[in-house]
Amino acid sequence: MHYLKTAVIFPFFLSALATPVPVGDTLATRDSSTFISRLENTLKGLGSLTKGVLQEVDLLIGGLQDVVEGKTDPVTTIEEAVGSLSDVRNASEAGLVGVAIDLVTKGLAPKNIVDLVSGLNEESINSFNNTNPIDPQTSIFPKSSSDAPYTQSEEDLRAAVYIPEKFKYGADGKQPILLVPGTGDPAGVSYYFNFEKLIPETDFADAIWVNIPNNSLADIQFSSEFIAYAINYVAGITNTTIGVVAASQGNIGVQWALKYWPSARDSVSDFLAISADFHGSLLAEECLIPNTGCTPAVMQQEYDSNFIKTLRSDDGDSALVPTTSVYSGPDEVVTPQTDPDASGALKNAHGVGATNVQIQLACPGLPAGGFYPHAGLLVNPITWALFVDAMKHDGPADLSRIDLDPICNRILTEGLVLTDLLGTETAVVLDSVVHALEYNYQGPAEEPAIRDYARSSSQ
Ligand SMILES: *[C@@H]1O[C@H](CO)[C@@H](O)[C@H](O)[C@H]1NC(C)=O
Ligand SMILES: *[C@@H]1O[C@H](CO)[C@@H](O)[C@H](O)[C@H]1NC(C)=O
Ligand SMILES: *[C@@H]1O[C@H](CO)[C@@H](O)[C@H](O)[C@H]1NC(C)=O
Ligand SMILES: *[C@@H]1O[C@H](CO)[C@@H](O)[C@H](O)[C@H]1NC(C)=O
Repeated sequence: MHYLKTAVIFPFFLSALATPVPVGDTLATRDSSTFISRLENTLKGLGSLTKGVLQEVDLLIGGLQDVVEGKTDPVTTIEEAVGSLSDVRNASEAGLVGVAIDLVTKGLAPKNIVDLVSGLNEESINSFNNTNPIDPQTSIFPKSSSDAPYTQSEEDLRAAVYIPEKFKYGADGKQPILLVPGTGDPAGVSYYFNFEKLIPETDFADAIWVNIPNNSLADIQFSSEFIAYAINYVAGITNTTIGVVAASQGNIGVQWALKYWPSARDSVSDFLAISADFHGSLLAEECLIPNTGCTPAVMQQEYDSNFIKTLRSDDGDSALVPTTSVYSGPDEVVTPQTDPDASGALKNAHGVGATNVQIQLACPGLPAGGFYPHAGLLVNPITWALFVDAMKHDGPADLSRIDLDPICNRILTEGLVLTDLLGTETAVVLDSVVHALEYNYQGPAEEPAIRDYARSSSQ
């Protein structure tokens, strides 16, 4: 976080963003008290929390009550929001609950945002129990005999795919884009304030997403089955190749799915990786919430985990489909995230095309290339420009094709406002606190075994 405070770019932010943007939205809201009760009820259901965790969650509830009662001044401009975000402690310092407390007490979770998050949580957009009666053209369970075996039923795998009512199945010439979420949250809420809002405004892309059961806190090998199936399902019901957009852990899930379900590679024309941890993270954040048990997915995302080593072996650290990866040096969750050692960077041993973009190098000293945290990249204008370029051309995005001038000088993607920045940052954190508490992992304190299909003779 210190990058922002010391960087010369900081004054640029202030001058470029001096216009106040009103916070306000009336979509899908519930009263904030819904979220507070949900947190309280989750706590009641847990017998095993230590006093320290209970005290922290109490602090969070107190902070939320202050927001409801109007005792916390909300940030009112993007400039203020960026300043306050830079004061939020990082997850290794404060833990997930500590980060949530900081967001709430620093005015980054205004009442309308908490209302939105409370409402969104109950929306069907987050369901992993969807009814999807349309069968793909040919059977995809499995699609090819080279694919790894599924351990989940086709019914459960298919139910995780969420098809928005307005989805056109490629009939309008728009390319289907599958959105894949990161650790702790379903796709519905993760992308609500960014790609779900931006994609419908385009004339070339149509969004659809996969909500992974247990919110990607479980074994990533389990989550990857949902991703592999979703890729082939969406391609199968639209008769076309699709684009895939993933955030954070979603990226290693996608890469794992592409590696061990090779049939899925034929279904994907482009993969946009946002804040990916293809090499895990050095930030040893073993337990999202201490003493509730370290969730398998978090253990698997350590820098040298067996999962990461297996994923990267046999050129799994190279793009398997044309891949555009975008990341931010001061990422507070995935580290290192600076070139040439960025965890988000992929090689190109398979020759399908890999474009790696660290935003600070793409727009040096300019707002879009400034301080950007992990989730924040979802609203970054460089991310969006890369998405557009990748989807509109064969192969991955190419920065040299993009007119960077107007892009570098924005802080948020055109079309997004303060609510979207705050929603993107706070919704995922607040929601994942509840999800991590609910998941309440009590299994072994070591990562799950590598499945047989991924064991090489050397292991
Ligand atoms: C999924 O939905 C069906 C009804 O459509 C219901 O019977 C079932 O209990 C639901 N399962 C879960 C896990 O929510
Ligand atoms: C997911 O959560 C359910 C409870 O909701 C549990 O029964 C199941 O074992 C979990 N799956 C994994 C892979 O952790
Ligand atoms: C895909 O192809 C099948 C068989 O040709 C056809 O029945 C179906 O309508 C097509 N779907 C779309 C969305 O084009
Ligand atoms: C997290 O914060 C601590 C204390 O400020 C700092 O030492 C550490 O470098 C930070 N980690 C990341 C990844 O920013």
